[in-house]
Amino acid sequence: MNSNFKRHLITAALPYANGAVHIGHLAGVYIPADIYARYLRMRGEDVRFICGSDEHGVPITIKAKQNNCTPQEIVDKYHLIIKDSFERLGISFDIYSRTSSAIHHKTASEFFKKLYSEGKFIERESEQYYDEQANQFLADRYICGTCPKCMAEGAYGDQCEKCGSTLSPTELINPKSTLSGNVPIMKSTSHWYLPLDQYEPWLKEWILEGHKEWKVNVYGQCKSWLDGGLQPRAVSRDLDWGVPVPVDGADGKVLYVWFDAPIGYISNTIELMPNDWERWWKSEDTKLVHFIGKDNIVFHCIVFPAMLKAYGDGYILPENVPANEFLNLEGNKISTSRNWAVWLHEYLDEFPGKEDVLRYVLCANAPETKDNDFTWKDFQTRNNSELVGIFGNFVNRAVVLTHKYFEGETPAALNCLAIDDEVLSQIPILKKSIEDNLENYKFREALREAMNLARLGNKYLTDTEPWKVVKTDPERVATILNISLQICANLAIAFEPILPHTTKKLRYILNMKTSRWEEFGNISILHPGHKLNEATLLFEKIEDGEIEFQIAKLQATKNSNEATAVIDQKSPLMPLKPECTYEQFSEMDIRTATVLEAERVPKTDKLLKLTIDTGLDIRTIVSGIAEYYSVEEMVGKQICILANLAPRKIKGIESKGMILMAKEENGKMKIVSPEQRLENGSAIS
Ligand code: 2FM
Ligand code: ZN
Repeated sequence: MNSNFKRHLITAALPYANGAVHIGHLAGVYIPADIYARYLRMRGEDVRFICGSDEHGVPITIKAKQNNCTPQEIVDKYHLIIKDSFERLGISFDIYSRTSSAIHHKTASEFFKKLYSEGKFIERESEQYYDEQANQFLADRYICGTCPKCMAEGAYGDQCEKCGSTLSPTELINPKSTLSGNVPIMKSTSHWYLPLDQYEPWLKEWILEGHKEWKVNVYGQCKSWLDGGLQPRAVSRDLDWGVPVPVDGADGKVLYVWFDAPIGYISNTIELMPNDWERWWKSEDTKLVHFIGKDNIVFHCIVFPAMLKAYGDGYILPENVPANEFLNLEGNKISTSRNWAVWLHEYLDEFPGKEDVLRYVLCANAPETKDNDFTWKDFQTRNNSELVGIFGNFVNRAVVLTHKYFEGETPAALNCLAIDDEVLSQIPILKKSIEDNLENYKFREALREAMNLARLGNKYLTDTEPWKVVKTDPERVATILNISLQICANLAIAFEPILPHTTKKLRYILNMKTSRWEEFGNISILHPGHKLNEATLLFEKIEDGEIEFQIAKLQATKNSNEATAVIDQKSPLMPLKPECTYEQFSEMDIRTATVLEAERVPKTDKLLKLTIDTGLDIRTIVSGIAEYYSVEEMVGKQICILANLAPRKIKGIESKGMILMAKEENGKMKIVSPEQRLENGSAIS
């Protein structure tokens, strides 16, 4: 490695703890980051690989509402699932922590306070969308509408998932609250903004002039943001979940999740190395690399660097931000909410021992320069034809033949022929190519070249046919198998960063104690006489039935999504409210009652004042049914009421209870009455 850096700080985007990790996350971020970290460690570099759960932000609070539980319960659940599944896949983080930790709250809070006290923010009053029913400002995903860029329905206040555009709530066409479905009003609120416009000349110089080597997709996105002109960006939100804004008079305000989350990289480093973290974040000798997906580019290349620049104090900036594009699944965009995904924890349960097959397929098919598609058929083919058919087959043939002809001892290479020299000369060439590709974040190509080493070995055995030659020239077979075993040993090194579970098995079979990168290219790693262990299979065939099961599972998701879409289209039904317990339901006292008198409430169009007999008492209810029922129609009618609803004053009249109504398809309201007249006060349950 010809680098002047003394240490490597590698970060992988902090996944939101509102769901499990899926193959899109893995192919885009975690597998490339892990390959890079493992490779550098093998080269003897000083590496820290940092990650953790992103536990704030609206996606978490929405999930909590849907599940009728607290945000903390949501993040506790998913943090564990994510952490455990990463470990099982062999993602080698030095720390996987979380942003709800005390140390993160402290770090993010102090970061804000320093910028605040140095006057680095501007405070602004602005009109923002507000849901009157939910009593809440509608930040980010609490508001949705039509995307102004691609006209897709259901775009969020911060982003359109269809076209990937970053949006602000006021850009949405026909905005609606995702909390109540209501059209929001505008209400004034005050927030702190990072004046990105002030950092624009510096960012242009640093990225557009200084980092022309960044990936085309990353550089291009930065250029288009910078050419478009940067605007001040709010760093706080009116929410009750997050890091509280540490300023007097900021009650009900928290740091914007995209302000606190990248600081998570710092707080997790502090947690890992409380006494040494500054050397990693504040020394020009550290090479900082952020692995992210394309939707995170602006935050890691523009916003976070501007935050670090504003903070000063020697913080370093990323040397590179190798963002990937997106992975689709069977031709459709992966979606957590539509359950269109292959979930890592489910994969690991359903394909035990096949961690590396997923690592292999997702690396071979990584969306490095454009969006790519994952299909189960391709997964099966790559496993059966490439891993089993080439890599596994070659190693197995070399080891089994050594056991058969040389009692499992590495034979000596005696006279090398041209074909042997040719094969051996390829090893350093492939090594150089693998290194160049890994160091330039081209992991697909690095994998292809590593597989070419296995292909080379496989072809060599097929061409030299030791099983035939053995009858006439056992000495020649010794040379062939020696060379084949040296290729196996080199494969154990070349694949170590990419397929760590497999190379562990391979090292056991070859009885290799260690695998250091500097040994790669050595053609006498296994000395003559070196004893091998028994041959076991590195990979197993994946049968059609296993693939059919996965495809059927996705088909079931598709069917259920389509059925939901049909229902959504046919009737404008209100979405199902969060689950409630029987106890909550049984607290509602619903009774039959009869309307004794009815009159219009003066100066209103919609309200009727009803005097009703509940069987228990005679009381007044004010109801908004004048649009649908006349005074005459109401008198004598039997109705159902929520009898224990807390009394409310409506137009100065105390209303005690609420009439049960149902909405017709045309939006009109109809009274829900018992099938036949019942005694007043009959309990409905
Ligand atoms: O897009 C996401 O999943 C974010 N949770 C990534 C955050 S990365 C970092 F800044 F923390
Ligand atoms: Zn769009």
